[in-house]
Amino acid sequence: MEMTTLTMVLFLLSMLWSVSHGFVPPRTFRSSLSRSGSNNYLTTEELWFNQTLDHFSPYDHRQFEQRYYEFLDYFRPAENGPIFLKICGESACNGITNDYISVLAKKFGAAVVSLEHRYYGKSSPFKSLSTENLRYLSSKQALFDLAVFRQRYQESLNLKHNRESTENPWFVFGVSYSGALSAWFRLKFPHLTCGSLASSAVVLAVYNFTEFDQQIGESAGAECKAALQETTKLVEQRLASNGKALKKLFNAGECKAMKKPLLLIMDAERFGYVCSWRLMAISFIFWQDAAVTAFQYGNPDTLCTPLVEAKNAGEDLVDAYAKYIKDYYLGKFGVSVQTYNQKHLKNPAVSEGSGDRLWWFQVCTEVAYFQVAPSNDSIRSSKVDTRYHLDLCKNVFGEGIYPDVEMTNIYYGGTKIAGLDT
Ligand SMILES: *[C@@H]1O[C@H](CO)[C@@H](O)[C@H](O)[C@H]1NC(C)=O
Ligand SMILES: *[C@@H]1O[C@H](CO)[C@@H](O)[C@H](O)[C@H]1NC(C)=O
Ligand SMILES: *[C@@H]1O[C@H](CO)[C@@H](O)[C@H](O)[C@H]1NC(C)=O
Repeated sequence: MEMTTLTMVLFLLSMLWSVSHGFVPPRTFRSSLSRSGSNNYLTTEELWFNQTLDHFSPYDHRQFEQRYYEFLDYFRPAENGPIFLKICGESACNGITNDYISVLAKKFGAAVVSLEHRYYGKSSPFKSLSTENLRYLSSKQALFDLAVFRQRYQESLNLKHNRESTENPWFVFGVSYSGALSAWFRLKFPHLTCGSLASSAVVLAVYNFTEFDQQIGESAGAECKAALQETTKLVEQRLASNGKALKKLFNAGECKAMKKPLLLIMDAERFGYVCSWRLMAISFIFWQDAAVTAFQYGNPDTLCTPLVEAKNAGEDLVDAYAKYIKDYYLGKFGVSVQTYNQKHLKNPAVSEGSGDRLWWFQVCTEVAYFQVAPSNDSIRSSKVDTRYHLDLCKNVFGEGIYPDVEMTNIYYGGTKIAGLDT
């Protein structure tokens, strides 16, 4: 192993200024895909319309500009072709991607339109994303945005084609969070769609989401699961023993002394986080998300093979794990360490990285999905508990910010969602 134990532990420690996504961020995944070229898009031409900021206030008439896209090459208006609304979720919406929906659009002579989710990307109503300004960020407002957009777009289409009160058949599409929005749109605005496709939709908000860890265990298989559990124990032990010594060093402005070993693997910017790191031994989240990603996105061998091999060869499991993080999770998969930095999450400035803060706000107010360790036989550290997540919400957004999961499920119906068949 090329990494010494010290640099390895520092490497892990620096990761561990860390927080967890409710889901391992699909947005990160998508952005690493979209880097592979712009011909993945049917269109990237930005269009704008004025959206109501607060759909639920009778007094507040403020508006903000929301970004959207349209692709009309396949549209057959004379035959009253359908309109496919692709719902953009928790990330910047940079265009209409070229995927199976464009195949369907061609076949059915459909128009394809896509609306960016409020606050994400360029559709931010505010220049600062302070907690106060995030008060209008919710799935409920986002659904209303879609409804208003759907109406305005239909009107403008009718105007363009010189006709009155025509209604094209509208279909909505979404995946993951936007999949939930797709299902909920059909639920809350059945008069505005003919149908909805909701892929991997997270329609049930869950507070203590222990099933995730269990599923990983099942997907991993007995041998790999045991290796993962052993790795967790080793990291816990090492953080507990070396953690204290390191913490001492970090106090009292000793950071500079640590610079050299860190720079072997870290850049200067990330070094700064290690210096101000407080949560040391209780932050295992980055570490666990890294493992989860291998399973959620279908690449278990990249993690299981080296871990099981290391275990069978009597090698250091934590070394093998660190190598996986470096090569795959940060390398190939392209996750940014920034995503795990609470300082970054607290930053209210609108930037390309704002999506992390925004999604966490939605996690901390509506859906939770706190990925906590099950009480028995867990893979992740038991230190990743409910308290940890609640503290994170409080630390990042302030007092009184925690998810009301029950209200979310009362509002949408959870798995008893009652869509209409027509
Ligand atoms: C939105 O409203 C503002 C203020 O009335 C106006 O200046 C702007 O042009 C509008 N934008 C769009 C896209 O209609
Ligand atoms: C979640 O887990 C915590 C800690 O185990 C427990 O106190 C709490 O009641 C649980 N909440 C729900 C809604 O299951
Ligand atoms: C805990 O997990 C082990 C291993 O999967 C299982 O054999 C045992 O029955 C479980 N215990 C409880 C209380 O669920």
